[in-house]
Amino acid sequence: MERNQILIPDEKIREQYNYMERVRLLLGSGVRKAVVMTFGCQQNEADSERLAGMLHEMGYTIVKEPEDVDLILVNTCAVREHAELKTLSITGQYKHLKQKNPSLLIGICGCMVSQEHRKEDIKQKYPYVDFLFGTEGLYRLPEILYTKLKSGKRQFHLNEGIGNIAEGLPVYRESSFKAWVSIMYGCNNFCSYCIVPYVRGRERSRDPEEILKEVRELAESGVKEITLLGQNVNSYGKDLPEPMEFATLLEKVCEIPGEFTVRFMTSHPKDATKRLIDVMAANDKIAKAFHLPLQSGSDRILKVMNRRYTQESYLTLARYIKEKMPDISLTTDIIVGFPGETEEDFEGTLSVLKEVRFDNIYSFIYSKRVGTPAASMPDQVPSEVSQDRFARMLKLQDEISLSKNRENIGKILPVLVEGVSKTDPDRLTGRTEKGRLVHFKGPEDLIGKEASVRITDVLTHSFFGELI
Ligand code: SAH
Ligand code: SF4
Ligand code: F3S
Repeated sequence: MERNQILIPDEKIREQYNYMERVRLLLGSGVRKAVVMTFGCQQNEADSERLAGMLHEMGYTIVKEPEDVDLILVNTCAVREHAELKTLSITGQYKHLKQKNPSLLIGICGCMVSQEHRKEDIKQKYPYVDFLFGTEGLYRLPEILYTKLKSGKRQFHLNEGIGNIAEGLPVYRESSFKAWVSIMYGCNNFCSYCIVPYVRGRERSRDPEEILKEVRELAESGVKEITLLGQNVNSYGKDLPEPMEFATLLEKVCEIPGEFTVRFMTSHPKDATKRLIDVMAANDKIAKAFHLPLQSGSDRILKVMNRRYTQESYLTLARYIKEKMPDISLTTDIIVGFPGETEEDFEGTLSVLKEVRFDNIYSFIYSKRVGTPAASMPDQVPSEVSQDRFARMLKLQDEISLSKNRENIGKILPVLVEGVSKTDPDRLTGRTEKGRLVHFKGPEDLIGKEASVRITDVLTHSFFGELI
């Protein structure tokens, strides 16, 4: 597709601002509350901040809970069956809120409903859902909402519209000190188990000037941590009229003045370059944390997953990262029970965990996704076998994580303070540069700032410490 077909033209964005104004007038005075319920990954969280931005612009006060609101917008995920079932069950519960308040508006959007069969499900089985739009229709929320309000008719919009990078939309950010910046949308990789390319479309990169402008504004407003987002950030810029490597974009981001840390995710191992690692090692602004999804340690499974790397090439990359940044925190994603996975394949995965010694892993039992090649592969692994492998893998990883965490006892680490601990209101929580959660006692005015904390004790997934 031509670049001018990918970028949504300015006049289309202005049209949406016009709809925002019309909704605002239609709603009139008085407080109107809206909530955006977000499921799924950071990309969805970033999208929700734009959805909330548009709702705020239309006059809604943005709140966090769905009780006593005028509008609920559910931003859905489709990555595993569990994510879909959870969303559907929660959406089901909103039926009662609508019975109590018939003027409540309920909308649903995002990855799950970008599948035709889910759109139909919602249409047929959830009559109290007022409007629906797919990932490509995000910027048209004002128009869709206006049409619903004006006509009273349910609105269902999927796979419509031109172009799919919308610049210049308002953003309502959750945090004043941490920010997501999407640098690209979509994915071209078609890993055989994954639904993402089908619900988010092909890879398209934002113009570097737009990204740098956003980062500059965030830095000026005092944001402490900026996370650059994409399904595969390493292929950033390949589709631009003037191609730019991700490593170059990172360097440019780091040149922006301000005291902020840069993170990025996700990196596909097949595209992670030595130059990226060298740039990371050379720049103090970049957090020394690398998320590098392995998925499986068996060459045979990696091939049918269409991941396009081998155990050996992954290990070579991991070794290079550790050589350049001995203190790096490495994390990964693993899928257990992919169709045809044998005990030997699974042991291949365990052997990579033992060699790399990840700080943390995000592990998932394979979930069949309608329309993906893996869904129709023979030898689907029985649930008991997957469960058993999953438990064995977690046991191994817990030992590794705990022993790596223990190396931190006694160290004084900088911690970005995020808020009051949810489990212990007497303590604050924050994250280390490497992303570890730390609980410690301290004054609440530290929230949003960096504190020095001496680590006194560790668990598998978190640290305890004392403020210095
Ligand atoms: N773009 C990212 C990941 C997106 S999805 C990447 O390439 O790494 C996040 C994680 O969900 C994936 O890394 C994978 O481990 C997991 N996942 C994706 N599809 C899945 C499926 N069908 N079943 C189980 N886990 C899945
Ligand atoms: Fe899914 Fe693979 Fe794309 Fe990641 S790289 S989003 S796992 S298809
Ligand atoms: Fe889920 Fe969509 Fe993200 S499927 S994991 S919310 S890209």
